[in-house]
Amino acid sequence: MPPDTPASAAEAARRYYETDDVDGFYTTIWGGEDIHTGIYAHDHESIAAASRRTVERIAAKSSTHLGPDGTVLDMGSGYGGAARYLADRFGCRTVALNISEMQNRRHREVNAKRGLAGLITVVTGSFEDVPYPDGSFDLVWSQEALCHGGDRPRALGEAARVLKPEGQLIFTDLMAADECPPETLRPVVSRLGIDAFATPSFYRRQASRLGFAHVDFEDLSDHLLTHYLRLAEETTQRTEELTGVISPAYLDKLQDNLPRWIEACRSGHLRWGIYTCRR
Ligand SMILES: C[S@@+](CC[C@H](N)C(=O)[O-])C[C@H]1O[C@@H](n2cnc3c(N)ncnc32)[C@H](O)[C@@H]1O
Repeated sequence: MPPDTPASAAEAARRYYETDDVDGFYTTIWGGEDIHTGIYAHDHESIAAASRRTVERIAAKSSTHLGPDGTVLDMGSGYGGAARYLADRFGCRTVALNISEMQNRRHREVNAKRGLAGLITVVTGSFEDVPYPDGSFDLVWSQEALCHGGDRPRALGEAARVLKPEGQLIFTDLMAADECPPETLRPVVSRLGIDAFATPSFYRRQASRLGFAHVDFEDLSDHLLTHYLRLAEETTQRTEELTGVISPAYLDKLQDNLPRWIEACRSGHLRWGIYTCRR
């Protein structure tokens, strides 16, 4: 294996998110709090506000009582936006599991500044090997992280294992449409260091395999197009600001890649939405 080839998908994801260019892009364009697809109230809404609405919508879907007695696992927790929202709004205790220690350091610093460190435990590790016993959590939450999984059935199996029997799994992910040939999306997803996305039918099959009798998918794919249009727009309008934060080569890469996402959304090749799963 060449020396710079990552040993696993988890290691590839860690390297991707710890790249200065990637960190600079997410921090500047998304706001560095929530780094997932937004639910847009209108076509020109800020990416940060729309991304926060996604967190609110997921929390509203939880049938688990969200409160000081609830324990949540966030798989692939990024900079910690969702964990802080749950702590701040509901007093929930969250374990935020994330492969990037660099993101986790920033996550802990912000939690401490906002007085939320007592409610959020930030753990460095992989969601393919969750370091908690069976039946530990009332709610397993994950936003746009499973797309990085090298073994998604295993990651979902871990989510099911650590859930209490009455618990709920809620997640979002970027997906390929069932009818989309994988090679079509390869130039699109390559920016994320991912080979191929899962599909909606894959997640349904996995949820059924794991004994989730009640599975709902809210298809929000239309927002994916708005989101990528907004990302492309912001990247173009804020080029000067971005030049101080990311390398010219990465900016070129973004300007080449973001239109491909827009095209894939318009062609109906990409899907996005919220899965809620109960036994
Ligand atoms: C698109 S970001 C989403 C972050 C956060 N969920 C949010 O919505 O703001 C994907 C996250 O998944 C994390 N991740 C990727 N692979 C992982 C793995 N195997 N185990 C744990 N975290 C992982 C990355 O470090 C990154 O923080």
